[in-house]
Amino acid sequence: MSGVPKASFRYFTGTGNSKRIAEVCASVFEAGGWSAEIAAIPEGGPPAEDSSAACLVFPVYSLDLPRIVRRYLEALPPATGAIGSRPRQALLLATGGNEDDCGWSLVEGVGLLAARGWDAAYADLVRMPNNWGPFMRVPGASEAAAILAAGEAKAKESAEAFLAGRRYAKPLSLPVFGPLGSRLMRAGFKLGVKRLWRKFRADGKCTSCGLCARSCPTSSIAMAGGRPRWSATCEQCMRCFNLCPSRAIAQLEAIGKGSRRERYVEPHFKP
Ligand SMILES: Cc1cc2nc3c(=O)[nH]c(=O)nc-3n(C[C@H](O)[C@H](O)[C@H](O)COP(=O)(O)O)c2cc1C
Ligand code: SF4
Ligand code: SF4
Repeated sequence: MSGVPKASFRYFTGTGNSKRIAEVCASVFEAGGWSAEIAAIPEGGPPAEDSSAACLVFPVYSLDLPRIVRRYLEALPPATGAIGSRPRQALLLATGGNEDDCGWSLVEGVGLLAARGWDAAYADLVRMPNNWGPFMRVPGASEAAAILAAGEAKAKESAEAFLAGRRYAKPLSLPVFGPLGSRLMRAGFKLGVKRLWRKFRADGKCTSCGLCARSCPTSSIAMAGGRPRWSATCEQCMRCFNLCPSRAIAQLEAIGKGSRRERYVEPHFKP
C-alpha cells in the first residue's frame, strides 16, 4: 500500500446523516486512489498519524459545533508536518437541517483545527433532513429523500473540490432572526445541553425494549424499572427520540409538541 495517500474520516452522528456524508466522501477519495478509514467520534480517536487528510463531519447544533465535537477538536494532538510531498489538510463538513444556518460551527471548527496545526482547506455546510423533532419541523419520507439526494451530491462535490486542491471556508451564516437572536439561541443551547436530558420522558407506549439505551452514542441512557433513564452526558443528538419504535419518547412536550412530529433516521443508518 506504500505510496497510496491515506485519509482519516471522523464523524459524530445522532441519526446517521453525518455518517452517511462521511461515507459518501470516503468513496470519492477511494475512487481517486486514496485509502480511507472511517470511525466515530470519540471512539475513533485522532486522525491516523500517517493520514494526509483528516475529514470531519458533524451535525450543526443550535448554530454551533456539538459539545462532543468541540471537545474532540480541542483535544487533538498537534498535526505533524507533511506526509511525503503532500501537506496535511482537513476537509470539514457540517450537516444541518436548514439551507444556510450553520452559524459559528464551521468558522470555529476551522479555527480549532488551525490551532492544532491542521490546514482546514475546505469547510462547507451540507443540508440534510432535520432531526430535531422536539423543536423543529422534521420532513416526511418523500421530502427527506429529495433532501438526502441533494445532500449526497453536495458532499461528493465538496470531496472532489478538496481533492482537486480547491480551497473554501464557508463564512459565518446566521438565520433570519439576525446576530442578537442567533447569539441567544447558541448561548441558550450551550446551557440547555447540560440540562435538557432531564426533560426526556418515555410515555405509556414504551415497551421496555431497551433499544434507546443500547444505541445511545454516549451511553447516557440506563434502563431502570423497564423505562429509560437519561443522564448528563447526553449530547441532545436525538437518536433515542427518533429511533424509538413506539414513538414513546418526548421532550418538553408542552412547548415543542415533538411527539406529534415525524421521526427521522437516515435510511442506511444501523446504529
Ligand atoms: C439539538 C439540535 C440542534 C440543531 N440545530 C440546528 C441548527 O442550528 N441549524 C441547522 O441547520 N440544523 C440544526 N439541527 C439539525 C441537524 O443539524 C441536522 O438534522 C443534522 O444533519 C443531523 O445530523 P446527524 O443525523 O448526523 O445527527 C439541529 C439538530 C439538533 C438535534
Ligand atoms: S426505545 Fe422506546 S420503547 Fe424501547 S425502551 Fe426506549 S423508550 Fe421504551
Ligand atoms: S440520550 Fe438520546 S439524545 Fe442524548 S445522546 Fe443519547 S441518544 Fe442522543
